[in-house]
Amino acid sequence: MNTVETTDNAQERPARRKSLTVILFSILGLLVGFWGYRAVEALQLTQPYKFNHAAHYTMDCAICHSGARSEVHSGLPPFSTCQKCHATSPLKDKEALKVWQEATATGELRWRKLASTPDHVYFSHLRHTKFAKLECQTCHGDMATRKSPPMLPMKRVSMKACRDCHREKHQSTDCARCHR
Ligand code: HEC
Ligand code: HEC
Ligand code: HEC
Ligand code: HEC
Ligand code: HEC
Repeated sequence: MNTVETTDNAQERPARRKSLTVILFSILGLLVGFWGYRAVEALQLTQPYKFNHAAHYTMDCAICHSGARSEVHSGLPPFSTCQKCHATSPLKDKEALKVWQEATATGELRWRKLASTPDHVYFSHLRHTKFAKLECQTCHGDMATRKSPPMLPMKRVSMKACRDCHREKHQSTDCARCHR
């Protein structure tokens, strides 16, 4: 077959191949874009209530994150902590009132955790806040002045960030230190 091709056809082929490549890359681009979008979407979290860190700026973080300076886990506040200061919902929009009413009935307002490490990683807040005297924002970014909950961590937990600081602070970077 190939041997009987006219010169016309032979010239058309590279052009056709080029447009085929363009189409393939466009499809690939769309797939990557779609996958990327889904991946970001999957990571995003919506909190049940529009908590406002900035309005609580003067308070000690440990009022709500009780373990932040004394335990392995920082923790997120139970609804009873909010009720110590707010007898009713501080936000008056319909949705907020509904969520507050439900929380009052069940005694629970479930915050969703953003920052996390896999099971094979050991991380202790106490070590880093009390002993190493690191500021929360070093690892979490500027949460304290947020007016509404972020949907993604303001700073991502990464092995690189952990190890870079450990190297800088002359801590061992043995795998077994963090992977237990
Ligand atoms: C130690 C007391 C205290 C605790 C505990 C507390 N708050 Fe507040 N909260 C305040 C004060 C004071 C303000 C600022 C004055 C105001 O707007 O009522 C405030 C303001 C707010 C606002 C902003 C209201 C606005 O108009 O923008 C929200 C939302 C809020 N609190 C929600 C919560 C939630 C949810 C919890 C529990 C996780 C909580 N608070 C725990 C004292 C507290
Ligand atoms: C009055 C209660 C309250 C106080 C005080 C408070 N927080 Fe929070 N914090 C919350 C609540 C509720 C959430 C979950 C909703 C959100 O993200 O806003 C949260 C979420 C966070 C998160 C995200 C945790 C995760 O899941 O990754 C960080 C980081 C954080 N707070 C840091 C701080 C720091 C730093 C301070 C002190 C400067 C502080 N908070 C003071 C109530 C509080
Ligand atoms: C050296 C880095 C580092 C510092 C400093 C740090 N954190 Fe964290 N924080 C993390 C990591 C990593 C996680 C995820 C931990 C996990 O999954 O066990 C986390 C998780 C959290 C959470 C989510 C709830 C939980 O218990 O896992 C809150 C809230 C929080 N930190 C608040 C704080 C506050 C408040 C401070 C300052 C007093 C602080 N952190 C200081 C790295 C840090
Ligand atoms: C900004 C600096 C910094 C970052 C970021 C940091 N660390 Fe550390 N880490 C330290 C310092 C300093 C110490 C030594 C604390 C002490 O004095 O005990 C330490 C100690 C430790 C220890 C030893 C505690 C023990 O009980 O043996 C572990 C494990 C650890 N870090 C894990 C992590 C992990 C996992 C991350 C990332 C999620 C991380 N660190 C991020 C500075 C950091
Ligand atoms: C200072 C703490 C620390 C040290 C030291 C450390 N890791 Fe990690 N490692 C982490 C954290 C945190 C994660 C989770 C990262 C994430 O969730 O993106 C991780 C994730 C991993 C993963 C899972 C794949 C990935 O990238 O998420 C592997 C594999 C791994 N580490 C291997 C090692 C090896 C091998 C060493 C020694 C050469 C080592 N780690 C040293 C903190 C550490």
